[in-house]
Amino acid sequence: MEILPPYPHTSILFPYLIKGIRGFKDILPGEVSTWQWVEQKAREIFHLYGYLEIRTPALEKLELFIRGVGADTDIVQKEMYIIPDPREGDMALRPEGTAPVMRAYVEHQIYARGDHKDRPYKVYYIGPMFRHERPQAGRFRQFHQIGAEVLGVEDPLVDAEVLALLRDFLTGLGVQDFQLQLNSVGCTNCRPAYREELKKYLKEHLNELCENCQARYERNPLRVLDCKNPTCREVVLQAPLIRDFYCSICKDHLQKLENLLQALNITYLINPRLVRGLDYYMRTAFEIVSSKLGAQNAIVGGGRYDGLSQDIGGPPVPGIGFAMGIERLISLLEIRPEGYIPDVFIAALGKEAKQEAFLLQNQLRSAGITAEIEYQEDRSLKSQLRTADKLKAHFVIMIGEDELKTGELTVKNMREGTQEQIKREEIIQHLKGKKITHGSFLP
Ligand code: HAM
Repeated sequence: MEILPPYPHTSILFPYLIKGIRGFKDILPGEVSTWQWVEQKAREIFHLYGYLEIRTPALEKLELFIRGVGADTDIVQKEMYIIPDPREGDMALRPEGTAPVMRAYVEHQIYARGDHKDRPYKVYYIGPMFRHERPQAGRFRQFHQIGAEVLGVEDPLVDAEVLALLRDFLTGLGVQDFQLQLNSVGCTNCRPAYREELKKYLKEHLNELCENCQARYERNPLRVLDCKNPTCREVVLQAPLIRDFYCSICKDHLQKLENLLQALNITYLINPRLVRGLDYYMRTAFEIVSSKLGAQNAIVGGGRYDGLSQDIGGPPVPGIGFAMGIERLISLLEIRPEGYIPDVFIAALGKEAKQEAFLLQNQLRSAGITAEIEYQEDRSLKSQLRTADKLKAHFVIMIGEDELKTGELTVKNMREGTQEQIKREEIIQHLKGKKITHGSFLP
């Protein structure tokens, strides 16, 4: 009997180069400092607005997304990473963060806790999401979101607050080229009549629609409004609009929100054809787009989802939130942090000096001063200074035979071009008295 190896695709005999998975990206240290800076700025603004961080698992029950995001959405139909588990039932890598946050809120009965009974529950998250989409510029299979959710309040005041936070965050990062597009997608009272009317219209134009939209027509006709195909866009131009079907509550909600945005000087554009790719939205829906992004032009997507809690078996809980793609956001940044810049570079000449440089480096670090040494053998002073320059070190300490003999080190201030002799035992005190950056990551 032939015994098959447990992993038939692997080859030990021909070890070809193993590459990463398509659509899953490495974020190398040079880029990570920008990510850390963006994340730090996000945390600052969330704390300013009273949001606390929530961390939910990367894996959830598949059913959460089928019921939460919607069985007929592209995400559920085509884009989920599903992990079958005969004991636990099918699971999925989270394609988004809103349904998991609502699941956690309902599961932990936060709505019943005294501190949140009549106060909004405001949380944010930063982390990876997974969608099996066709990778292209700005679209990945593992991507990262900064997201926020406000649960428990129906008033458009929170809708406006969320949009103010977004405006402040983006402008704080120096992003200028963005546009907030706003719509209301109605509610369970007014949407069914609109859906019927839209279907009636689309039926007359079915053969002009792309294959995707022909399939959407039955299950999810509102998504046709959002299709990028030029002929579908042409058809959609004459289609009925949801705003002509709003019930009085939806109409009022949108009007109040617009008044608040104007009072806050938040620029927005009403896009009456804006629909979102997730089924849980109700009333407010928005996107922030940038013309600098190409085909995948949305940096932020969000809106209100007052029915989501009930869809996943919870009590009625209104909610609103947004998520922003970090990869897309970073591609728009004009300011970027420098990354690691050492306070001190220690240049050493000779074996003994090298040993001394190594010990000094250690002492400096223990004192909270970032320091680097030369690792290569026999480098000239000139080439070590070149390295210090490349690293943008603030100070260079030089140790050679003379310094070892006298116990005085030469300290060169690379920013000011000055140089002084400092006693070995006073070096830490001396540097601490200077305005040094401590390896700052900030731009
Ligand atoms: P979404 O519109 O599906 O909404 O995603 C939000 C943002 O995530 C997008 O605007 C985009 O920047 C980024 N994004 C989505 N898919 C990809 C991808 N494949 N590659 C790179 N970036 C991507 C949601 O996820 C909702 N949960 C937002 C929300 C929160 N609504 C209410 N609360």
